[in-house]
Amino acid sequence: MAQKKPVVVVTRRLPESIETRLMELFDARLSENDEPMSRAELIEAVKTADVLVPTLTDRIDAGILAHAGPQFRLIANFGTGVDHIDLAAARQRNITVTNTPDVLTEDTADMTMAMILAVPRRLADGMKTIESGEWTGWSPMQLLGHRIWGKRLGIVGLGRIGHAVARRARGFGMAVHYHNRRRVHPDTEAELEATYWESLDQMLARMDVISVHCPHTPATYHLLSARRLKLLQPKAYVVNTARGEVIDENALTRMLERGEMAGAALDVFENEPAINPKLARMDNVLLLPHMGSATIEGRVEMGEKVIINIKTFVDGHTPPDRVLDALL
Ligand code: DGY
Repeated sequence: MAQKKPVVVVTRRLPESIETRLMELFDARLSENDEPMSRAELIEAVKTADVLVPTLTDRIDAGILAHAGPQFRLIANFGTGVDHIDLAAARQRNITVTNTPDVLTEDTADMTMAMILAVPRRLADGMKTIESGEWTGWSPMQLLGHRIWGKRLGIVGLGRIGHAVARRARGFGMAVHYHNRRRVHPDTEAELEATYWESLDQMLARMDVISVHCPHTPATYHLLSARRLKLLQPKAYVVNTARGEVIDENALTRMLERGEMAGAALDVFENEPAINPKLARMDNVLLLPHMGSATIEGRVEMGEKVIINIKTFVDGHTPPDRVLDALL
């Protein structure tokens, strides 16, 4: 008799090729409307499914996991960040969690580099000038921004994405500085000509651009707090493509309002998708809708990782991208 296929609930629409393969391999229940699942729907999913494929828009907390049926063994997250999943609660219930690292590193680093350039060089102002139809031609003092070449970039979290950003920044003539929980290997520092700062406070006080690349964990919540943001120089820019919760967004907004820093480029927000309306009105702020990793190629590779993680797990092996909460 043919073995029953595991029930896999997918909370959002994924690339067509991935949905097709999920249907071939598993008893996949796909999202029809691409709406984030309600709490009731998530509870129903963990009660009935063997595997859940959530995204960062699904909050999988202990309350939801308390409803998990005995068959529910795997959360195969579509995405790298897992701060929307209560990892400790999952571990307690012997539920494995996997994610999709590596495949969005280069895309996110590209977007970060674009954001590092965009605000100092006033790309949005330039576009608005053309769109307004009021451009009368070149003039020497028009739309002057600030040079990036030769400036100091402070990377908060030199992991995979931070490293990929550092490589790009070197190509743009920036001096790479970083703060990490652990100092990286000397070979990596040599490759990037990177300067390590054990003290985040001291690094913040000396950089021209700060780019955030650490995950959101209890330890990094508001890592860039009001106190730390105040250490920035008035000429400094802040870029965030990691998680909004790492920066105290209200404090950042206040500083931008008062002109205590030069600008910010944000792809992620503390209360996504809600955005502080004050930020949206500022000329020296670029806001993007969490699209750092949004490439077709990347989404397909993320989906392939999800499939490999599920298949390996249901075949009785340790999936390649298992998340260990102790490491966060
Ligand atoms: C992730 O995978 O966590 C990203 O934030 C999605 O862009």
